[in-house]
Amino acid sequence: MNLKNRNFITLLDFTPEEINHLINLSARLKKEKQEGKSHKHLSDKNVVLLFQKDSTRTRCAFEVGALDLGMGVTYLGPNGSQMNKKESVKDTARVLGRMYDGIEFRGYKQADVEALGEHAGVPVWNGLTDVYHPTQILADFLTIKEVFGHLKGIRFTYVGDSRNNMGNSLMIGAAKLGLHFTGVAPKELWPESSLINKCLEISKETGATITFTDDKMLGTKDVDVIYTDVWVSMGEPKEVWNSRLELLSPYQVDMEMMKNANEKAIFMHCLPAFHGIDTEVGTQIASEYGTLYPKVSKGELEVTDEVIESAQSVVFQEAENRMHTIKAVMLATLSDSYE
Ligand code: CP
Ligand code: NVA
Repeated sequence: MNLKNRNFITLLDFTPEEINHLINLSARLKKEKQEGKSHKHLSDKNVVLLFQKDSTRTRCAFEVGALDLGMGVTYLGPNGSQMNKKESVKDTARVLGRMYDGIEFRGYKQADVEALGEHAGVPVWNGLTDVYHPTQILADFLTIKEVFGHLKGIRFTYVGDSRNNMGNSLMIGAAKLGLHFTGVAPKELWPESSLINKCLEISKETGATITFTDDKMLGTKDVDVIYTDVWVSMGEPKEVWNSRLELLSPYQVDMEMMKNANEKAIFMHCLPAFHGIDTEVGTQIASEYGTLYPKVSKGELEVTDEVIESAQSVVFQEAENRMHTIKAVMLATLSDSYE
């Protein structure tokens, strides 16, 4: 398996074998790290991280992953570079590609990460756009594999905004690796039919199934994984909270929903999660909308505090796995001699 010089922009570009290779490489790098075994395979290389949106996990995963591999790292934040303001993405790509061995991009438009990938001449990694979040799926699937020992045949339900970057990417990942994916949301929040159709095509080869329902008890019955994400994503205007709360507050993941799943079911979330009044946004939504939607009056939005703090929740194992999987993506695309 050789992924050297490949971009990592969407899982649609990768075969099931390639995705499984990255997950297995991540598990190996995680074990090596736990055993204190150094893996500085890329000590003469440098990477740059371009962030137009905020991040805790993705930024830190790229930084620690790169440092563990022996690389130098430059972080350019939302206000740190000329990109978009005085310089096009295409020019930025051609400049950075001459200085760095790899480029990470987190931003708004999928077209921007694609333009970087087309013009940089070095591997470009998608650290989240409005449409996709592919590195997150590797961490999620490594976590599921650690818990259940396999991915094929896992009954996986995503509850919430099913047409955001997470809903789209989890559906693609499930189609590629043969999971049984159910999206639970009101119809207005299902993915574009062209993407669903693409995933149904892929599923014919892999044994995956893809279904959508607005019935939360039907969609979570006896499943192995219940996954959710925020109701309003980065970059969306705050005016959408009103309609999103109306659509999604009935779909808050609570203990009743967890009990409807398989008794060994796990709860997953890409994080950050609103599960109490200990964030500015959680407090603000609770005070503004708590009377209209009593479920959110304690700042618990997409998931209750009880669920995220329960023994079924694997969210912090999942967050740690961001680092091991992102490290694997950088290693596999920058080197072909790490075996
Ligand atoms: N899950 C995730 O991408 O988290 P950050 O926004 O903190 O990077
Ligand atoms: N859908 C979320 C994912 C955050 C990791 C967002 O885009 O804000």
